[in-house]
Amino acid sequence: MTSAVLVAVTGWDPHPWFERFRTFAPERDIRLWPDDVGEPADVAFACVWKPPLGLLTEFPNLKAIFSLGAGVDHLIGDPTLPDVPLVRIVDPDLTMRMTEYVVLQVLMIHRRQRMYDAQQAEHRWLDHDQPPASAVAVGVMGLGELGRDAAEVLQRIGFKVAGWSRTPRSIARIETFHGTDGLDAFLRRSEIVVCLLPHTPATEGILNLNLFRLLKRDGALGGAYVINAGRGKLQIDTDIVAALDEGALAGATLDVFPVEPLPPGSPLWSHPQIAITPHNAAASDAQALAANVLQQIARFERGEPLEHVVDRRVGY
Ligand code: NDP
Ligand code: OXD
Repeated sequence: MTSAVLVAVTGWDPHPWFERFRTFAPERDIRLWPDDVGEPADVAFACVWKPPLGLLTEFPNLKAIFSLGAGVDHLIGDPTLPDVPLVRIVDPDLTMRMTEYVVLQVLMIHRRQRMYDAQQAEHRWLDHDQPPASAVAVGVMGLGELGRDAAEVLQRIGFKVAGWSRTPRSIARIETFHGTDGLDAFLRRSEIVVCLLPHTPATEGILNLNLFRLLKRDGALGGAYVINAGRGKLQIDTDIVAALDEGALAGATLDVFPVEPLPPGSPLWSHPQIAITPHNAAASDAQALAANVLQQIARFERGEPLEHVVDRRVGY
């Protein structure tokens, strides 16, 4: 019976995934690309992160593809991707990591921690007025698995939270906006905008100068901020610098970039108002997530529907 599981990962170390799959499912035939693929016709399930374009066409009996992260833009962009269900990761471990990141970065801005770090470096004891979180309007772009949780935790710690999504969403105590028609009003009330959108044709380049100019600059923080932990291709790097230069933005926190790793020569590295993390807002931890994928495969084999199947028409 065709049931081998292929692990094909680039950009991350594939071995923790391979080892965890083997530990959780010792009875399974697990293959590691590129050295231990064996007979391609045996492979039924592909567990992948940024596989080379066209790789999955080599497996004629593929039944499902599993992205080892939440995003699937690394797969949807492959025109040769086999027409089998494409599943993404939704898991409390991944969600909690992203919520930690978002809350940390929002609080770094709200509590002006970088300014206090600079004062410490100069041995300066200087207290500044601190508005309450309840005076600060945070807007979350993307109210999916990750955006919704981050929005709810931000709301619980006191911020005025709103969210924006493609289709209407209703979340207790969070003001929601949707679609192109709802974007303008959402931006105008947001001082800190947190982007947790997927990269699709509709969202590419959405974090641009025109958008930054609409953000609320006269709120409790005295300026507008962007935090992007969605995807790099959502943002126009030169527009971020231009928005900082003209004052549309007071700061930017970026975990993702159009080109990763961010090239050493990028001006973003040394910009005083930009904070950078290396696309690790919510790392996919094999230790935590391998079981999730294997459970999905077991569901499929029992004839149960797969969960978190990607809608290829909308691209996420
Ligand atoms: P989901 O698919 O659960 O949610 C996506 C959200 O974005 C939904 O609310 C959706 O709207 C909204 N959306 C999509 N397209 C549009 C659009 N054109 N206009 C307005 N809203 C739109 O994804 P997750 O929350 O699980 O993940 C979000 C993204 O986070 C991933 O795609 C990935 O790129 C990124 N990510 C980054 C990580 C990192 O370490 N930096 C780690 C993990 C993920 P609707 O609700 O109407 O469908
Ligand atoms: C993901 C990521 O999409 O790590 O899961 O970026």
